[in-house]
Formats: sequence, structure tokens, C-alpha cells
Amino acid sequence: MRALIAVLPGDGVGPEVTAQAVRVLRELGERRGHEFRFREGLIGGVAIDQQGDPLPAETRALVSEADAVLLGAVGGPRWSDPSALVRPEQGLLALRGLLGVFANLRPVHVHPALAESAPLKTELLANVDILFVRELTGGLYFGAKTHERDSAGRSVSASDLCVYTALEVERVVRVAATIARGRRRHVLSVDKSNVLATSRLWREVTSRVMRDEFPDVTLEHALVDSFAMQLLQAPARYDVVVTENLFGDILTDEAAVLAGSIGVLPSASIGEQPLTGHRRGLYEPIHGSAPDISGRGIANPAGTILSAALLLRHSFGLEHEAAAIECAVSDAISAGWRTADCVAAGAASCSTAQFGDAVLARITET
Ligand code: IPM
Ligand code: MN
Repeated sequence: MRALIAVLPGDGVGPEVTAQAVRVLRELGERRGHEFRFREGLIGGVAIDQQGDPLPAETRALVSEADAVLLGAVGGPRWSDPSALVRPEQGLLALRGLLGVFANLRPVHVHPALAESAPLKTELLANVDILFVRELTGGLYFGAKTHERDSAGRSVSASDLCVYTALEVERVVRVAATIARGRRRHVLSVDKSNVLATSRLWREVTSRVMRDEFPDVTLEHALVDSFAMQLLQAPARYDVVVTENLFGDILTDEAAVLAGSIGVLPSASIGEQPLTGHRRGLYEPIHGSAPDISGRGIANPAGTILSAALLLRHSFGLEHEAAAIECAVSDAISAGWRTADCVAAGAASCSTAQFGDAVLARITET
């Protein structure tokens, strides 16, 4: 197959980790006879520096033409002055909105060899296989914002509006339940319906969609505070977890503790399945720009390489190729390749590029 992949490296470690994922995609494309073309675009802080806009028109045009988008990370201390009007993160939110990718899939598996680097008891981590489905284009992230200052420029009040429509809840719940059918047929919906009106709507709509359209999938509800605790106490209990934008952001960073490092977790953001052609998607690791280690060649590229696997699976339907990447990453970890975020204290670690080499070597073997 032929496809154009937009690559948006972004800030911090973004360029370092996307470079490794592109190497892997190129190699796999060549081996399996796919013509993948790659074109880079600016997003985030680098785009503000070069064009004054975190999502410049050229990048918008590129992603609209592309069949899929691979992204590194955005943000960093250089652009985090609280009074700044233009911020790197706005570029990412605008991109998610532009692509209409309302469902953010964040799978959490625990590689047995990494369970030791997790701070939790190893026996708790056996059989953990959770798929978070985070609503990505609604809620607090996208509601109207205000920030009032007095004449001296001091903050007086601020607000973020949280709105969800039934339609926004229905479509993300359908994605979650459809995927659950191919797994253990269990969906947990997380909300804060004892306090929030949007959560009461979320719970009502989720219950209706599941009852009417997915009677073969069991549904459970949990309050976000209680689930945040349960997730660390009995993580193997969960299958598919669907939740709103902000809760999903927070809970998936928490879930990264189960995997041993946030550096290994990928994500896929998808929209509606079109009747023909490729499903639009945005693929990015769940970690951020990690300014503390950027430019040193030591970031973990696994989350981005695994995001490339999700790209092949969800946008191009290339299941064998996606699985080949996942096996190669898993085998590289089993063989002892570890970037600094995953090593035991005092043990030797490899560089970003060496981890990429180790994955490539294993893809060559398949
Ligand atoms: C994520 C990130 C983003 C988010 C930021 C960078 C806007 O934390 O993808 O989890 O909050 O969605
Ligand atoms: Mn986040």
C-alpha cells in the first residue's frame, strides 16, 4: 500500500523519539513492500518560535493531506509562562480538534521484565491488560475559558467551562464497547456523577448505549476518586476503561506506573470509521516533552515506536506489521535493552538510538 505519514516531532525529546519510530516504519515498509512517504511539520513550541503559531497553516495543510499523523511531544519551560497567550499545548488541542479524533486509545500492558522496575508489588502486576479509551475533543479542555485581572495585572478569577453533549458520549462509548467485544467484553465507565452534571449525563448516556447496542458487553460504573485507588490495588481486574478527557489524562499517567515507565506507553487517537479509505488518526506516546533529559539521546523511544504500530493497525489495517513491531519491542526489552528510565539503580542503560537499533534488528529477523 501507499501512504503519506505526517511526522510532527514537536519539542523536547519529541524529535529524538519520533526519529526512531520513523526508522522502524521505513524498514518495515521496505521489507513488506509498502510505500510509506514521510513529511515533517512544525507543532508546539518550535512552531511558536519559528512561525508565532503552535499549529501553523502549513502543518494544518500537511495533516489534512496525510493518511496518518505521528507526533512526538509538545511543551517545555521555555513556553510555560502562565501569562503567555500562545502556548505549545494549544497546537496539540487544535490538531486533535481539526482531525476530529475524539477517541484516544491508551493500552497499558506490563512487560514482565519491566514489572521489577515498577514500584508496585510484582504479583499485583501479573495479567494487567487495560485499554483506556479517553474522550479527547470535549469537556474542560475545549470549553470556554475566562481569566480576569485587576488594573495592576493581578489575577482575580478564572473559569473553564465543561460541556458534554449526549452525542459526544455516545460515539466514544461505542468505540470502547466495540473494542471490548474483541477483548474480555467488560467496560468500566469512570465519572464523578456524585458531583458533576456532565458526569450524570455521561453515566446516563453510557448506560443507555450499552443496554441498547451492546447487551453482550458488561458495563460497570466507578467514581474517579475511588477508581484512582482501585487501579493501583487491583489493576488486573480491568479490561476497557472509558472516561472523559481530563480524567483520562490523569488516570493514564497513573496507569503508567504499572508499566514501569511512562516512556513505554503508546496512544492512538481516532475518529469515525469512514466507509472507504484510511481511518484518520493521530499517534503519539503518552509521555511529554521531558525537557530535563532532552537533547541527550537517552529518552525511551518505545512509546513512540509502539504508537507507530498502532498507526499501522488502526489507520492502515496492517495487523501483521503492527504485531511485528510490538513483538520486536517486547523482544528487545526481554533481551535486556533498557533506556535510563527503565533500569534498576546503578545498572547500565542504552541510548535512544541503541534501543531503536535493537528493535530494528528484531524486525529484520521477522
Ligand atoms: C497528553 C498530554 C496533553 C493532554 C497535553 C500536552 C495538552 O498531557 O496527551 O496526555 O493533556 O492531553
Ligand atoms: Mn497527559
